[in-house]
Amino acid sequence: MELRSDRIVIRGGNPLRGRVDVRGAKNLATKAMVAALLGETPSVLRDVPDISDVTVVRGLLQVHGVLVTESETPGELLLDPSNVETAHFAEIDAHAGSSRIPILFCGPLLHRLGEAFIPDLGGCRIGDRPIDFHLDALRAFGAIVDKNYEGIHLTAPNGLSGADIHLPYPSVGATEQVLLTAVRARGTTELRNAAIEPEIMDLIAILQKMGAIISVEPNRTILIEGVDRLTGYTHRSLFDRNEAASWAAAALVTHGDIFVAGARQSELMTFLNVFRKVGGAFDIEEDGIRFYHPGGELKPVTIETDVHPGFMTDWQQPLVVVLTQANGVSIVHETVYENRFGFTEALNEMGANIVVHPHGLPDHPRRVARRDFEQAAVVTGPTRLHGADIRVPDLRGGFSHVIAALSAEGTSRISNLDLIRRGYEHFVDKLADLGADFDVEG
Ligand code: EPU
Repeated sequence: MELRSDRIVIRGGNPLRGRVDVRGAKNLATKAMVAALLGETPSVLRDVPDISDVTVVRGLLQVHGVLVTESETPGELLLDPSNVETAHFAEIDAHAGSSRIPILFCGPLLHRLGEAFIPDLGGCRIGDRPIDFHLDALRAFGAIVDKNYEGIHLTAPNGLSGADIHLPYPSVGATEQVLLTAVRARGTTELRNAAIEPEIMDLIAILQKMGAIISVEPNRTILIEGVDRLTGYTHRSLFDRNEAASWAAAALVTHGDIFVAGARQSELMTFLNVFRKVGGAFDIEEDGIRFYHPGGELKPVTIETDVHPGFMTDWQQPLVVVLTQANGVSIVHETVYENRFGFTEALNEMGANIVVHPHGLPDHPRRVARRDFEQAAVVTGPTRLHGADIRVPDLRGGFSHVIAALSAEGTSRISNLDLIRRGYEHFVDKLADLGADFDVEG
């Protein structure tokens, strides 16, 4: 049973050792649940993590008439969309407040009901996070978008038709929006500059199981031939590579040794290269990856976050904690989000030396073309970390605070843990299993 307290007191210094099981990816399982809306028959999704973002999507599906039941097997959900119905605004609003996933309900609901309502979107506070690509794509399919003070109301009086869409940036969410809408639209959709993250490929695999015709072409182009009818799917969710990378960083920064069961090499290659360059070691096994500190000093790196197959933006926060212990100056260019270094303030309070350049480092040689709003963090190490009182600001930043506290001298008090529960399954129990020294409060 997961310890549910929202506050934890951590005494740093214990190496984390042992095994953690990583289940389905937050950023796939939630989308796969939405895809079930498109089927005429029930779907079965396996390895669904017990995280609060899944609870949000489950609630939203239920208010739209989808019957969601848990099977005897842990993590297995049965999703029956036979009686999809229009939900009341108040019900949608009550469930959607803390997540960005509701925007992905648009296409499936337009197909099923001819209308959709999307309240103000939540998600982590990591910049503006606009939805213009989503709305432009939906308009291209023929949806009418009506914004008012409560949210966005969409209708499709003439149904939805295939479209030619060129995304301004390979956005993960907008690519999923196009896929979930195009599969049942009339005619063919050509999507250019699409995101090709492994979670997107897994979503495409699910849609193919449902009866969709989708081909992934060279150069980020995806062709979708609309079909009249989709059925349910049975699918085991791709593992959560963000969680796997987070535990890897936890092993390294605490001088520990963690076997991450369920992690796979192919989706983590870029991360593994950086982990090795920093001085971490790993052994790839058939059923997971062992991450450990092999001794010796950690080395600085320069990295740029990027879309797949680049270094994921969700990996930089735990890595930055590791870099506070590397011997020299590291630079992290954040090119995906405009405001994803807020978590470094608390690390500096703990003794780190991190300088954030809010407009990036323009003269620094870079591989990825500059975006208007990028930032850079310069991390000088090694610095001894000491305990602090921290209120978690967002999901990935929060996890990085926890691992910083685990590696620090002295005691840290960390609150607002529920934000971490949006994406890390039973993480407090996992910490206990790995030998962390802490008490839950309240
Ligand atoms: N963007 C726009 N307009 C849009 C959509 C996106 O300008 O309409 C911009 C964003 O502001 C951002 C960039 O495009 O600067 C990339 O955003 P993207 O759409 O790719 O991200 P997302 O779909 O909102 C998902 C994950 C994130 C992950 C990113 C990048 C989910 C629920 N979220 O977000 O995960 O960081 O892709 O891989 O799948 C997390 O798990 O902690 C998390 C934030």
